[in-house]
Amino acid sequence: MKPLKNIPEHVAIILDGNGRWAKLRGLPRSVGHYQGGLNLVKVANAANEMGIKILSVYAFSTENWKRPQEEVDYLMTKPAEMLNENLEKFKTSTIKIQIKGRKDRIPKDLLNVFNKIEDLTKDHTGLILNICFDYGSYYEMLEAMKNTKEFTETAFNNELMIKEKVDLLIRTGGEYRLSNFMLWQAAYAELLFVKKYWPQFGKKDLYKAIKNYTKRNRRFGGVKA
Ligand code: IPE
Ligand code: IPE
Ligand code: MG
Repeated sequence: MKPLKNIPEHVAIILDGNGRWAKLRGLPRSVGHYQGGLNLVKVANAANEMGIKILSVYAFSTENWKRPQEEVDYLMTKPAEMLNENLEKFKTSTIKIQIKGRKDRIPKDLLNVFNKIEDLTKDHTGLILNICFDYGSYYEMLEAMKNTKEFTETAFNNELMIKEKVDLLIRTGGEYRLSNFMLWQAAYAELLFVKKYWPQFGKKDLYKAIKNYTKRNRRFGGVKA
């Protein structure tokens, strides 16, 4: 894969389609989530190799608590297990992991491993991987409003969990919606909706998405030749 010029600095991905990926194979939805988790490691490494600065992924929304208890339980326990098993790998990689979302509703074990992983990788200088977990834009913006003393765009922006604007937003799984993800940060993002379910979205797909982005004409309300 040839290196690309003018790649996006901040890529966001809505990791959708784990359940349908599993259903298609006659497997329980949890297997889809497991494969989705493994895939995240692959795609984050690929993004790091490509020189992307920030990758923000939507892994669990503030609305996903509505799912069946069994599925919620899996999503609150399996990631902790997977992260714990791979602490050494995260330590030796150059990726800096940050968790973005509410921290007051997730189980203690998960919160502990999230804190551990953030601490382990805090000095890493490669890709910043924002894992958005129990994240939702409504919550993020309401909290920012509460904390904003001066009502300016910059002051409000500085109170957000994710302060960097999104350049490219990808949603896998074939749906055309944002589902409460990065409503502020993606105001001028280039959008890309792909059919593939998240567990199938690989390095080549990421490369294709970046290449597609490099051909877009971003105008930000102005005029460009
Ligand atoms: C995305 O996959 C992962 C989470 C929301 C946790 P889904 O679980 O939404 O998969 P589909 O959309 O039902 O296929
Ligand atoms: C969005 O996917 C949330 C995540 C990928 C974490 P959903 O599957 O929850 O979105 P809807 O319900 O189809 O809008
Ligand atoms: Mg979904």
